[in-house]
Amino acid sequence: MEPTPGTTGLDRTLAALRDPYRFIGRAVDRHGSPVVATRLLLAPAVCVTGAAAAAEFQDDTHFTRHRAVPRRVVATLFGRGGVQGLDGAEHRHRKAMFTGLMSADRVAELAALVDAELLRAARSWPVGEPVVLYDAFRAVLTRAVCAWAGVPLPTVDAERRTRELTALFDGAGAVGPRHWRARLARRAADRWAADVIRRIRAGRITPPEDSAAHAVAWHRSLDGALLAPHTAAVELLNVLRPTVAVAVYLAFAAHALHHHPRCARAIGDEAAADAPGGGYAELFAQEVRRHYPFFPAVAARARHDLLFQGHPVRRGRRVLLDLYGINHAAERWGDPEEFRPERFADAQWDPYGFVPQGAGDPATGHRCPGEPITVALIAAVARRLVGLRYEVPEQDDTVDMARLPALPRSGCVIRPLGPPPEQAP
Ligand code: HEM
Repeated sequence: MEPTPGTTGLDRTLAALRDPYRFIGRAVDRHGSPVVATRLLLAPAVCVTGAAAAAEFQDDTHFTRHRAVPRRVVATLFGRGGVQGLDGAEHRHRKAMFTGLMSADRVAELAALVDAELLRAARSWPVGEPVVLYDAFRAVLTRAVCAWAGVPLPTVDAERRTRELTALFDGAGAVGPRHWRARLARRAADRWAADVIRRIRAGRITPPEDSAAHAVAWHRSLDGALLAPHTAAVELLNVLRPTVAVAVYLAFAAHALHHHPRCARAIGDEAAADAPGGGYAELFAQEVRRHYPFFPAVAARARHDLLFQGHPVRRGRRVLLDLYGINHAAERWGDPEEFRPERFADAQWDPYGFVPQGAGDPATGHRCPGEPITVALIAAVARRLVGLRYEVPEQDDTVDMARLPALPRSGCVIRPLGPPPEQAP
């Protein structure tokens, strides 16, 4: 048994907030170990990186998600009582409700809805006037995902719901007013979604049977009971919120198309040839998820005293798995800072080595069930963007790595040069 390098003496929360994506990587480099002891949020914690650590981290006989995530994240991003905090059989049962929503047909339907909404928005953009793509994407995704999920969204409410759903992920990791806006948004969004659930159960709205709203409203726990309205609301928002959050990746996709014109050409050529899905746009989507930052890490707690990669970890200790660092590990990716979609062309990627949305198997562990949606939406929007006529004005589109989630500082501004072509790209 080797002692865990690092120190639990000095609280490092401020350092982690200053550089959330590289905090673990820097600690690991400093100590020359993939397992490092530190102190965060006034409590000892352990930071771990690497595919082997990711595999060990998934073992729910050793780790629990119960109370693993800081309360401020539960009070904003996750909500109380959702799938993220469950373990074992209860977790797998609830998780199946989410993975059941991701059939290829349903994912393609959502991608088509997003594309249609984006085209509609693009038709309304005045020629020559700047458009902040990140803002446009959030509105497009809110309308599309509500339609897809069977959640009524009157036009008058669309702007407000976009704002609330955004605040849930945008303010969770912030300090100050952005975070307090996220807390208020969580209250409003929980009330809204619980009302939708009650109306479905009362027969006042009947979403399609294959929709998320139907699945959540009528889901039964292992004991046979329907979910409490508040819990069902949290789970419905677990579909709506992260789909709107795909706007972050869409802004990065626009950023990548601008900075790597050869990728835009390859996607355009493929669209012109009317190639079926699974082509360059999908490779591009994977590279967007690998290259750009989104979730820095995920958290669990040790169920008992254990050895992690040969290092002792005390019972109850919070362990943070370095998602960003694993996606940028030089040993695996060779040139991690290069943006190169081709790296996914023949790679059967390792679920512990490519972890933009968590590690392992989504059916049995906590890995995100929404990856098929995320990839399909990035690919669809990239195809649509390369078919639009726009220029990219002078702007500061550097990526703000101190922000959670990181974003291009300008939000990616374009200036349309003409209306969208009538033909689909
Ligand atoms: C912007 C794109 C997305 C990112 C970056 C993302 C990221 C993540 C991450 C890091 C986790 C935690 C994994 C873990 O704890 O090990 C997660 C879990 C989850 N995601 Fe996503 N996600 C995205 C999109 C989606 C979408 C589109 C959906 C659903 C429509 C979704 C639904 C969920 C749910 C329900 C969980 C909880 C899973 C569990 O605890 O078992 N996500 N996601």
